[in-house]
Amino acid sequence: MKTTDVLVIGSGIAGITTAIRLARNPARRIILLTRSADLHDSNTFQAQGGIVTHGPDDSVDLLVKDILEAGAGASHPEAARILAEEGPPRLEEVLIQQAKIQFDRDQDGKPAFGQEAAHSRRRILHVKDGTGIAISNGLVALLKKFQNIEVLSNATAVDLITYPHHSKNPLDNYRGITCHGAYVFDRSGNAVHRTLAAKTVLATGGLGRIYRHTTNPAGARGDGLAMAFRAGARIVNAEYVQFHPTILAAPGAEGFLITEAVRGEGGVLLDPAGFPFMEKYAPEWKDLAPRDIVARAIHVEMEANGYSHVLLDIASHMSPDALKSRFPHIYEQCKRVGVDITLESIPVVPAAHYSCGGIAVDVWGRGSIGNLYAVGEVACTGLHGANRLASTSLLEGLVWGCRVAQDIEVELLASHPVVPTREDIPAWDESGLITDSDPALIQGDMQTIQNIMWHYVGLIRSADRLTRAIRELRHLQTEIETFYRNTKLSDGLIGLRNAVEAALLVAEAAYHNRQSRGCHFRADAVEAGDRLL
Ligand code: FUM
Repeated sequence: MKTTDVLVIGSGIAGITTAIRLARNPARRIILLTRSADLHDSNTFQAQGGIVTHGPDDSVDLLVKDILEAGAGASHPEAARILAEEGPPRLEEVLIQQAKIQFDRDQDGKPAFGQEAAHSRRRILHVKDGTGIAISNGLVALLKKFQNIEVLSNATAVDLITYPHHSKNPLDNYRGITCHGAYVFDRSGNAVHRTLAAKTVLATGGLGRIYRHTTNPAGARGDGLAMAFRAGARIVNAEYVQFHPTILAAPGAEGFLITEAVRGEGGVLLDPAGFPFMEKYAPEWKDLAPRDIVARAIHVEMEANGYSHVLLDIASHMSPDALKSRFPHIYEQCKRVGVDITLESIPVVPAAHYSCGGIAVDVWGRGSIGNLYAVGEVACTGLHGANRLASTSLLEGLVWGCRVAQDIEVELLASHPVVPTREDIPAWDESGLITDSDPALIQGDMQTIQNIMWHYVGLIRSADRLTRAIRELRHLQTEIETFYRNTKLSDGLIGLRNAVEAALLVAEAAYHNRQSRGCHFRADAVEAGDRLL
């Protein structure tokens, strides 16, 4: 058993920022948990396009306006203003000054701002097309300088520890649920430990892996969302799963993103015969329309005409040298699978990318469970509304990582938080677990979830599709729960249990929301004024 002041679960920009901000107080003890062997294994690492800030001729008001418009009227204006006001100074302080990230500069040595969809200004800072790699490397290096942060890797949180669930403190039932850490599965030791904390921060990222096609890494199974839901947290906007329009469609390149910045530099979407089609769907913005509109337009083109993919042409708009220098990772990856982007168009399809909803939190990252915070993609600050504006997620993780750390520090200084003792919280009991985890069952069930979500809870939804999805997912959940209660733990089993929970949260939210808005599109319940195609 371990005890700590703060337990942070997740090693993307949101989790690491929270940890390093707290660690500035040398008296604080922080444990940072990652299910992976490597701290870099996160959605942050995969980010290509960049991180939003203020560009030339830009303003807080203009960025807020763009966020709210992309969010299709469902964003929380206060969250948008916080991001637009606090984002640029936090970026300068944490990423540039402390983590020493060198964003690209133009020939005059000034920041080279990129353009992305639905932004009315060029305002995206980037490190070529590997911004996430640079940010992750910088933050991990910074994290390692703090002696008071203990990193536990190969460690998967199984469930949050809450008093009422152990019937230990009846008063908590009246005060509301409070969180005191998590049960953690240590893969190296093959055992579950109690990690008790005064404050727990979920920074576990998203849930793209519950879909058959996604840009997300293996850990994006909705772990944090499912744990919080089981503990009684309020979840909102789960139906707003954003699909990225342009994923490389070639064998051996599954899930590889072709950043929106390619369209920002002039790239144009074409049908397989070479005709541009975005003007038909978004006459004003065309290829730089908000992401929900572009992804759905591609989906409609593919479904109506039986295309397996559409094309993205950048070769006609940038010189080969400029292309290789601006998008080196994309150039290399495409070349590896036989596509030379300096000569030919890139075959692309949409894929699940980002969860705009999540654990409902206030502007300080506090949710409905005491002592529990959520930050980054797992949380819903309301910023993204029904459709996230490109390149705002890294900045959200940074800004709210700082905010969560600030709130925790104030709370810890103001009170003497109760960290439960070994006696309060029972040890993990695995006496009934008789079966070894069967990878074939886990993989099979995971693929079933992914197929259900892709076909019935995807880019275009309907009551019939959602009803079918919910029925099948509920049945699967019963099977998985029985399996879970008899089977020795593994990371895969924990993930499967979380994935089916997260899938149900998304499907049920989609079923109950009959209005098409942003990335939630109901073919059967379109109302006047909804933004369609
Ligand atoms: O297209 C991209 O580079 C993705 C950016 C984002 O998800 O914000």
